[in-house]
Amino acid sequence: MNCQKTKLIRDKFSMATLISSTSLSSLFLSALLLLLLLCLSSKPHVVEAKKTEETFPQTHTLEVASLLASDVCNRSPKVSNQDSSLQVVHNYGPCNPRNQGKGAHVPSHGKMLLQDKLRAKAIQAKAKGSKSSSPTAPVQSGTGLGIGTGMYAVTMGLGTPAQEQTLLLDATNDLSWIQCEPCSTSCHQKLPRFNPAKSSSYKNVSCSSATCKSINGLGQTSCSGTTCHYEYQLSSKSLSGVLATDTLSFTKPDTIPNFIFGCGQKNEGPFARASGVLSLSRSSLSLTSQIAGKYENRFSHCLPSSSSSVGHLTFGGKIPKTAKFTPIKNDTRSSVYPVDMTGVSVGGRLVPIDESFFEDAGCIVDPGTLISHLPPAVYSTMARAFEDLMTDYPRTDGYEDFQTCYDFTGYDSVKIPSISFHFNGGLELAVDKSGIMIALPSLKKVCLAFASNFEDGNEAIFGGSQLRTYDVIYDLAEGRIGFAPGGCS
Ligand SMILES: *[C@@H]1O[C@H](CO)[C@@H](O)[C@H](O)[C@H]1NC(C)=O
Ligand SMILES: *[C@@H]1O[C@H](CO)[C@@H](O)[C@H](O)[C@H]1NC(C)=O
Repeated sequence: MNCQKTKLIRDKFSMATLISSTSLSSLFLSALLLLLLLCLSSKPHVVEAKKTEETFPQTHTLEVASLLASDVCNRSPKVSNQDSSLQVVHNYGPCNPRNQGKGAHVPSHGKMLLQDKLRAKAIQAKAKGSKSSSPTAPVQSGTGLGIGTGMYAVTMGLGTPAQEQTLLLDATNDLSWIQCEPCSTSCHQKLPRFNPAKSSSYKNVSCSSATCKSINGLGQTSCSGTTCHYEYQLSSKSLSGVLATDTLSFTKPDTIPNFIFGCGQKNEGPFARASGVLSLSRSSLSLTSQIAGKYENRFSHCLPSSSSSVGHLTFGGKIPKTAKFTPIKNDTRSSVYPVDMTGVSVGGRLVPIDESFFEDAGCIVDPGTLISHLPPAVYSTMARAFEDLMTDYPRTDGYEDFQTCYDFTGYDSVKIPSISFHFNGGLELAVDKSGIMIALPSLKKVCLAFASNFEDGNEAIFGGSQLRTYDVIYDLAEGRIGFAPGGCS
């Protein structure tokens, strides 16, 4: 067998081709042929290579057309069919019912990436605020609401009879909120706004209630008469409204009576013309906390591989056998999902980065952030390793913060190195090939789909692009997050 191993290393690119071939039978046949040829021509005694190095670099074959947005929604049959599942769609893609017909509003890539950066900053500020406050203090005042737009949306009904709402998935905001009538400022959205007057189950939260008091640590409350108002200021923007409850219906048989949310009347900020934000955070007022008892304190989501396919959000449900887990860090002050990232592999080989860079920064899992934001030292080492394996392709100018970019015009498919992230507990998460590069916006400029944080000490954010196609299981009862491949396509 020695002859096989050495030759395979020398012939690294041909092996990589084989590995990423999609047809199993042709892979098997060609492997047999190659083995035969190699063994016939090789010298006998050679040092045995380590198993993990055999196939370096591990690559994916990426059809370049898959990098471009499509206008047609491809509803794969492989959407979770568990009872308490909702379809997850890309907010700007053709599967979002809101975007059907004319007038779909899609912001430029530049604008989307800028918003993503602002979102990352707001999350980092929130994490920092909670890090520095004393363990018993509430989350720093004013950081609980309004962390901008997310990328993925679900449709739910609110009120009796149900009024349809498109809500952005979010794991960082402390409270869900929905644009309501009467709306005074920044009320843009495609579907009609929620009208409390047309719902027989709508109630204002009273000022003297514990719920109203609990929001005080998150934003600011004030009372007009007996009604509990919230208000949050994000630089010059402001979000305010009434704290309310109503029946939330997500799948036909499943309803949640007295769901607590912010009924927004002033909704400034980049909210992407959705009806509002659905909070899946660890805050006591998130949807997740409100329904913890009903679904074994567990939910999962799968973000689709492209803006034209469909994923799911599932409450409760079975844990796939292939799931691998990492603990959620025991930080009771923060409502986000912190985990321990410990390393990055490119092409199947761990890149040399001191673990302290990961430890000092920390890491938050957030499906609402478009791309992952990494500590500068981690990002640059990873990008170099990636570039070293991409020398076959023409480099091109960067795009704002993205400097590792290639011109893929004229290619049908390209071979890109695999990228995987290591987490505490021995979890290695191989990023789906759809989450490694991003076209900005054409094939002339396709860049490594990661961003660098401004400072080493800022939290890494493991974002939506790199979570694609995995079932991401938030098993809060066990204090862990799991990942199972092939959750959606
Ligand atoms: C809720 O509070 C708002 C603002 O104080 C008020 O205008 C509205 O009538 C109240 N609605 C209900 C159902 O009590
Ligand atoms: C998390 O921290 C709390 C409070 O400090 C402690 O009571 C609990 O046992 C810890 N849980 C784990 C899993 O370490």
